[in-house]
Amino acid sequence: MGFGEWALQAQGLRCALGGRTVLDSLDLAIRPGQFVGVFGANGAGKTTLLRALLGLQPLQSGQLRLLGQDGVSLRTQMGYVSQRDPVGADSFLRVRSYVAAAWQGERWGLGLRDAGQRRQAVDAALQAMEMGNLAERGMDSLSGGQRQRARIAQALVNPVRILLLDEPLSNLDPQAQQRILQTARRLCTEQGLTVLMTAHDINPLLSHMDRVLYLAGGRGRLGTIDEVVNGPALSALYGIPMAVARDGAYVFIHPAGGFMPEGAAHCGHDHGHSDQAGLGDVA
Ligand SMILES: Nc1ncnc2c1ncn2[C@@H]1O[C@H](COP(=O)(O)OP(=O)(O)OP(=O)(O)O)[C@@H](O)[C@H]1O
Ligand SMILES: [Mg+2]
Repeated sequence: MGFGEWALQAQGLRCALGGRTVLDSLDLAIRPGQFVGVFGANGAGKTTLLRALLGLQPLQSGQLRLLGQDGVSLRTQMGYVSQRDPVGADSFLRVRSYVAAAWQGERWGLGLRDAGQRRQAVDAALQAMEMGNLAERGMDSLSGGQRQRARIAQALVNPVRILLLDEPLSNLDPQAQQRILQTARRLCTEQGLTVLMTAHDINPLLSHMDRVLYLAGGRGRLGTIDEVVNGPALSALYGIPMAVARDGAYVFIHPAGGFMPEGAAHCGHDHGHSDQAGLGDVA
């Protein structure tokens, strides 16, 4: 494959944690500008995958290529927003300083001491996340949705080509979720940014994402929504009969033969009931 044809290629990725294989024989091929939703029950390996792509998680085996080149050399081109937000540590910062703190001009050959370049990069990142009006606010004064947008702005302050967002929608109301989704979509379409976003509920992403990556039992299935979100594909992945029900535009994914108890079914995946259904964390 030539440079630029694939943003991200993985072949036979295997990742073990605490003596247990979390990801096994995972193959991926993601094009530049694609918005990929990453799904799977708690413990399916979503965070592990993002960390493996970043080089934070060693691979037992497999090959990884980013932007058509050996993975290791291009990792600076990835932005990352982790699942767990270290609340409080940066609360004394203004939003502008918080975003600027991640600037690595020197690494990009732009000159670390060039305050003008940095200011420009910070402004562009804030603008991309529609946060220009909040630049002088303190981090501790932001709402949850605003804070999440500030975290994404920080990940965008360097000229990254791939953005990994780990559960950026959790704890946000539908409006705040849509705002982040629309921004991610726009960055993919307009700037060719490639986005991998993990989430628990597939529904908010349905009208925004290009591809779905579903993880279960260490394996993964990547494809269009129609290719992946159907009974046969998910049954093969989970190893038990799965069904997909639709209520208007809303999608329910559940083991064939019954919905999850209580509120679990409304999410594409079960949470607390995952072990009961045999779909969750197999640790
Ligand atoms: N440092 C570690 N040592 C041992 N096991 C780990 C470690 N980190 C993660 N794991 C295990 O790896 C598995 C995958 O975890 P991971 O965090 O990738 O799942 P996830 O899909 O992101 O889950 P969630 O939806 O809860 O965020 C889990 O069984 C977890 O307990
Ligand atoms: Mg996770």
